[in-house]
Amino acid sequence: MGYRVAVIGATGNVGREMLQTLAERDFPCDDVIALASERSAGREVSFGEDEVLKIQDLAKFDFKGVDIALSSPGAKVSAVHSPRAAAAGCVVIDNTSHFRMEHDIPLVVPEVNPEAIAKYKKRGIIANPNCSTIQMVVALKPLHDLAKIKRVVVSTYQSTSGAGKDAMDELFNQTRAIYVNDPVEPHKFTKQIAFNVIPHIDVFMEDGSTKEEWKMVVETKKIMDPDIQVSATCVRVPVFIGHAESINVEFERPITVAQARAALSKAPGVVVVDQREPGGYVTPAECAGEDATYVSRIRKDPTVPNGLSLWVVADNLRKGAALNAVQIAEVLIKDYLKK
Ligand SMILES: NC(=O)c1ccc[n+]([C@@H]2O[C@H](COP(=O)([O-])OP(=O)(O)OC[C@H]3O[C@@H](n4cnc5c(N)ncnc54)[C@H](OP(=O)(O)O)[C@@H]3O)[C@@H](O)[C@H]2O)c1
Repeated sequence: MGYRVAVIGATGNVGREMLQTLAERDFPCDDVIALASERSAGREVSFGEDEVLKIQDLAKFDFKGVDIALSSPGAKVSAVHSPRAAAAGCVVIDNTSHFRMEHDIPLVVPEVNPEAIAKYKKRGIIANPNCSTIQMVVALKPLHDLAKIKRVVVSTYQSTSGAGKDAMDELFNQTRAIYVNDPVEPHKFTKQIAFNVIPHIDVFMEDGSTKEEWKMVVETKKIMDPDIQVSATCVRVPVFIGHAESINVEFERPITVAQARAALSKAPGVVVVDQREPGGYVTPAECAGEDATYVSRIRKDPTVPNGLSLWVVADNLRKGAALNAVQIAEVLIKDYLKK
């Protein structure tokens, strides 16, 4: 017997990728329910090669009898509907930022802290981390195990798909407008995104950082180690899919480039592509549609006693969102929700 699985936000960037990932990985579902807003009710979305699902209105949906919900309808909507689904007995894997830092909600990357999933029983909700955090901790965990990380300085190059489907359209429309000499008007972003970069993702915090930067700091501590210091600068770039990160790491103990490369090469979910020649590294355009977190440009930072620098790239809609959520669901059904 298989599972009843609901995908909340099924018309969105993450929701569509979740449906695709469930189908590709042959997740044992008897029934898949696609939910979105009232606006989309009745529309159709594809599931796998030849199945079509009719969208139902989340607000009217009763979660009784649903085993697992993969949820990505935005933080405010999740705040209302994830607890409602959990109260009906469904385990919710929530992709929004709403529950991530609540102390009794596990925040999970299966390659890094799968044991945290056990804590889902109290609230019935498991949080999926921010896309930039996920790919960073996948790459950092094997290095932390080797030489204990003290401090991380990260700059991100984040694609427009991380801001939803309307943001991708804005990049497309602005790019076209520039070529035909039409006026460029920002709507979703604060400034022109085509042929530009914007050092601002999510709202500003009191200390001058942005909430996206804050998320990378606090989520890394919660998932990996509260003692790691993180300084982040998050930047939106005119790329459709795939986030890149330039990461500088300071360790407590000595670590060589060869040791780091060997540990990363056998780490789950990581692919090392690091040839130190033109093209011997991975870029976002090549990681779109792929499951791995790619690590390139591994090199010593000689300015601190034990330092390394890396370049990390992943598909933000897959490992950064849908794939991570489905991997959590796979651990859930293997270890906790056996049928
Ligand atoms: N994109 C990423 O890389 C990424 C990564 C990790 C987490 N997330 C998080 O996942 C969430 C969704 O991101 P996205 O990129 O998929 O956004 P998106 O493309 O804009 O899609 C939003 C989805 O939410 C649905 N929705 C909006 N309001 C709703 C309501 N009142 N009731 C029910 N459904 C509603 C939309 O349905 P309609 O089509 O009916 O409006 C749509 O299916 C966000 O919280 C985001 O922060 C995104």
